[in-house]
Amino acid sequence: MKMWSGRFRQPLDPDFERWQRSFSFDRRLLAHELAASGGHARALKNAGILSSDELISILQGLKQIGEKAAATTRFLDDDEAEDVHHFVEKQLVALIGDTGYKLHSGRSRNEQIATDLRLYVRATIDEVRHDLAELCGVLVDGAEQAGDAAMPAYTHLQRAEPVLVGHWLLAYVEMFLRDAERLADCRKRMNVCPLGSGAVAGATLPLDRPLMADSLGFESATANSIDATSDRDFALEFVNALTLLALHLSRWAEEMILFSSQEYSFVVLPEAYSTGSSAMPQKKNPDLLELVRSKSGRILGHATALMVAVKGLPLAYNKDLQETQEPLFDSSDTLLQMLPLVTGWMKAVEFNKGRMQEAAQSGFMNAWAAATYLVKRGVPSRLAHERIGKAVQVCIERGCELQDLPLEELRSLSPAFDQDFYESLKLASVLAVHDVPGGTAPSRVRQAINAAKKKIESLREEAHAHA
Ligand code: ARG
Repeated sequence: MKMWSGRFRQPLDPDFERWQRSFSFDRRLLAHELAASGGHARALKNAGILSSDELISILQGLKQIGEKAAATTRFLDDDEAEDVHHFVEKQLVALIGDTGYKLHSGRSRNEQIATDLRLYVRATIDEVRHDLAELCGVLVDGAEQAGDAAMPAYTHLQRAEPVLVGHWLLAYVEMFLRDAERLADCRKRMNVCPLGSGAVAGATLPLDRPLMADSLGFESATANSIDATSDRDFALEFVNALTLLALHLSRWAEEMILFSSQEYSFVVLPEAYSTGSSAMPQKKNPDLLELVRSKSGRILGHATALMVAVKGLPLAYNKDLQETQEPLFDSSDTLLQMLPLVTGWMKAVEFNKGRMQEAAQSGFMNAWAAATYLVKRGVPSRLAHERIGKAVQVCIERGCELQDLPLEELRSLSPAFDQDFYESLKLASVLAVHDVPGGTAPSRVRQAINAAKKKIESLREEAHAHA
């Protein structure tokens, strides 16, 4: 039986009836719906609405529904169920008879969907954070294995200064650790329970809200029933956090694509994650990276869809909110599929360290270090910059590097130049000069690797504790 047919004289238009249903996508909330319904049933018993026997039979019925769904997905083929809430009621009544109809006493689907979605987001946050820990772990391993290998760092996509390959990889670790932290922050705020909020004004029965919240692992019960039934901030925050994560993945993918091109040849594409061309026999294409780059747009689109869905929505529940589910699910699915693949790619990738090292030593990437040499000898920074700029100009004309200029010629530019200038131009010296926390000096990068390992370890522990 429908959940609301009493006041209607006419049946629904069959096309409309099918079209407005959400069961095709909210069936995935079944486990959360069952858990939340169990909490509600216990509160009904405490409020004197259910007898002990009725409670037991409802709880057993809910358990059986979960078991049946786990045993066969065909169990969920129900053309009549309007949504997951209706489905559970129908199945419960089929299993235990009219007592099943008692479960809906004092509650509304408005609070149920708000609760189910929170449970879903919470579980998904834990999964994403777990996957992020894995990815960061592989990146840090890569940073460690890279040792003292150097590469060019770019600004404006022009060669700027040499950095350790490890330093470059750790930049991505920072981005992904921020994503994990953002998700943890979102989790903290979203972990409150709408049960007992009713349709909009609060439950019509004296339900023990703190107890229901606690039984589902929530920190507390929501504070306002109007807000609780209409709030989807948690979904928006979550998908926005996923968007930022997806954008980070997209920047990573773009850089790897660039670095794998013949023009750079820094990255050797792993065959297990690349594809060939049906036409050009020589091709090895970075499809995984390209799809990651593209799917980030899809998640960004979902974030926009969610924001537009709530923009201008009057309080409290409106059916528009049903439309927040699919973008939320697809964003989660897209990321949860991508992250392990990205981790696998990172594990399999090889860097052409010889080529990176070579590139790190040409193109005047020691120019700033050269100017610093003069600064340390008392030359005002602006003038040092200008002198080295002149020296670079001479080199460009001659097709050589700074270290190829004879000392007398350098001295004619500034008397501050001395024999030890040549030492300061060597790659190792240039790297070592960036000796500040967060800089690329090898000792600093080793410190950064250790610090990142600690953060990843606690991320792993947190993810494990929630699992
Ligand atoms: N399927 C609905 C949704 O996802 C559940 C809530 C329905 N509430 C209502 N008053 N029609 O939003």
